[in-house]
Amino acid sequence: MANAYISIEAIARRFPAPDGNRTTIFEDLWFAMDRGEFVCVIGHSGCGKTTVLNILAGLDEPTEGAVIIDGKAIEGPSLDRAVIFQSHGLLPWRTVLGNVAYAVASKWRDWSKAQVEEHAKKSIALVGLAGAEHKKPAELSGGMKQRVGIARALSIEPKIMLMDEPFSALDALTRGTLQDEVRRICRDTGQTVFMITHDVDEAIYLADKIVLMTNGPDARIAEIVANPLPAGRARNEVHKHPAYYPLRSHIIDFLVSRSKAFTEELAVPGKVWNRRAPPVVSPGADVAPPAAVTA
Ligand SMILES: Nc1ncnc2c1ncn2[C@@H]1O[C@H](COP(=O)(O)OP(=O)(O)OP(=O)(O)O)[C@@H](O)[C@H]1O
Ligand SMILES: [Mg+2]
Repeated sequence: MANAYISIEAIARRFPAPDGNRTTIFEDLWFAMDRGEFVCVIGHSGCGKTTVLNILAGLDEPTEGAVIIDGKAIEGPSLDRAVIFQSHGLLPWRTVLGNVAYAVASKWRDWSKAQVEEHAKKSIALVGLAGAEHKKPAELSGGMKQRVGIARALSIEPKIMLMDEPFSALDALTRGTLQDEVRRICRDTGQTVFMITHDVDEAIYLADKIVLMTNGPDARIAEIVANPLPAGRARNEVHKHPAYYPLRSHIIDFLVSRSKAFTEELAVPGKVWNRRAPPVVSPGADVAPPAAVTA
């Protein structure tokens, strides 16, 4: 893990339990990410996904262990890391430009107002909101508000973008468009992303790696799924790829049964599983792709 861009090293999070003991949400959790990698985390409600994300954001501290980003241990929130939650969290009294400019000015405190606004406008244009700079959040649709949140996150050029079910409150059409935009922007800018989702197809479309977490308490990273689909995949072609169904079935199967029976799976004689390096699998990778959908 020494050379990883982001390294989660042996983190644990425990909370006081009503019986006076402590509940272990997870412990000895290890995970590493490369620069520019898009990671999605999938697991049942309550397994600890948001807790991991909050620790990465510096909003929560691990009870044990550490997270290293670009060679430095995390100590509290930082403008190196941008968080996008399910709700947009915009300042209602500021315009679109005002909201994004506020973040830019916090990051680059010596910039002039003109420099700040110019930079903010670039991020706003990137998410397709050029022309809406002077609108207030109340005048925007849900999808547009979420776009402003994304523009604000991108504007501070974070080392990592942390997203907690960012599209779950949106209708399917808007969600699709925003997934396309986020994928395009992250690929173009080499943005490193850690995103939580409950939507298997969203993870398959967006992620380079999909982290499968078992049910808590004492949740684990059971496996890391390396996405076998071509990097240049298009949304309307994904389901035509021969690896798509093996991949999708593997993840659904994990969520339906393996996520809760994982400790029994570990008890099988001969099973090798290491908390520090969970297996990397790539279901469907052996199926030859038709030329039409190869990147
Ligand atoms: N401050 C806290 N005090 C006690 N328990 C907590 C606290 N915060 C979280 N937990 C517990 O930690 C566990 C993991 O919570 P977390 O929010 O990380 O789950 P999640 O995987 O994000 O779930 P969801 O998919 O529903 O968002 C839950 O059982 C939750 O009750
Ligand atoms: Mg959560």
